[in-house]
Amino acid sequence: MGQKKTGGLAGVIAGRSDICTVGQEGAGLTYRGYDIYDLADNACFEEVAHLLHHGHLPNAGELAAYRERLKSLRSLPGALKRALESIPAGTHPMDVLRTGCSVLGNLEPETEFSQQRDAADRLLSAFPSMLLYWHRFHTDHKRIETSTDDDSVAGHFLHLLHDAPPSELHRHTLDTSLILYAEHEFNASTFTARVITATLSDFHSAIAGAIGALRGPLHGGANEAAMELIQRFDSPQAAETGVRGMLARRELIMGFGHRVYTRVDPRNSVNKRMSRRLAGEVDDKRLYAVSEAIERVMWEEKKLFANADFYSASVYHFMGIPTYLFTPIFVCSRITGWSAHVFEQRADNKLIRPGAEYTGPSLKPWVPLAERD
Ligand code: COA
Repeated sequence: MGQKKTGGLAGVIAGRSDICTVGQEGAGLTYRGYDIYDLADNACFEEVAHLLHHGHLPNAGELAAYRERLKSLRSLPGALKRALESIPAGTHPMDVLRTGCSVLGNLEPETEFSQQRDAADRLLSAFPSMLLYWHRFHTDHKRIETSTDDDSVAGHFLHLLHDAPPSELHRHTLDTSLILYAEHEFNASTFTARVITATLSDFHSAIAGAIGALRGPLHGGANEAAMELIQRFDSPQAAETGVRGMLARRELIMGFGHRVYTRVDPRNSVNKRMSRRLAGEVDDKRLYAVSEAIERVMWEEKKLFANADFYSASVYHFMGIPTYLFTPIFVCSRITGWSAHVFEQRADNKLIRPGAEYTGPSLKPWVPLAERD
């Protein structure tokens, strides 16, 4: 157990940050001192983005101006659209976003760190546009207009996806989900962004690296894997039997467990509530019940709890979002947290370069090529 704890830097304090607490005694999950439940219940995603980027909640005038600014940054340059069109239809959309981020970094490079807030706002606005431009190009064979009148990132996303403005329930649900995913301290993708930033590299390189880290199923990719699991079962009974079998075979159940939380992921209750509500809306008789059955078995068998990725899977599914767009939605949200960490790292930078405990062979004499076996 002691050996295990040191693996993967578990429990290691790797730096200081003013941005977020995760599972801290007496605080729980907070962004800049605000409780996640207060933010999820009362804020909009743009308020949270402003909070993370600027360190304080916007007043009404600042929020209106910030929304207008984000709206004005949704169009994509022609060269980026052509690049997106040339990415094959079968590509995973996380790879599309990683490439889109890089291409934008070529077309609109950050040449000085003083441009970092512009780069952050641009990516926050452009990620839904580039993702759904590529998606609609390949699924509907349309070159869509990526500017919409929707004031919110959530509304813009759903509008581009479904080619119509979303219902208020769906807009609000996605908005809340974006708030829940916005920031989570030194998780793998954020830490990746900070490591890249610490070399004094550019903004787009840090974010492209973070997208690569988020893609994996042990991190952001878990929401897609959770959906595939839930859809495998046609009843709660089948789910119970199936998951018990998977656990007996020591398979991982995606959407459960967490490196930092030990008993509960505070984001889960919000996601679960939204999933239940949407299940009622679409008259789902299977997926929500299957999800609850899996959650029950995981607790009974392993004392493992659903993390943020488990119920967000069915939430997205009930809103008609294809599974392969789930992890990219995480990017559209977490770009806010990543950006805040890039700013913070740059403000007090030190190259991040830890040491390793060497476990290789001891020093050996050199053997010339002709004398080797
Ligand atoms: N399903 C089944 N068993 C799990 C599990 C899961 N989702 N998560 C952890 N475990 C088990 C491990 O197999 C391990 O068992 P062992 O001690 O018998 O070998 C034990 O619980 C400890 O897990 P470990 O992988 O060492 O914890 P970690 O802190 O390194 O991993 C996660 C944390 C999140 C990577 C891990 O829980 C996981 O892989 N979850 C599934 C992926 C996921 O949902 N990721 C999103 C995270 S927000």
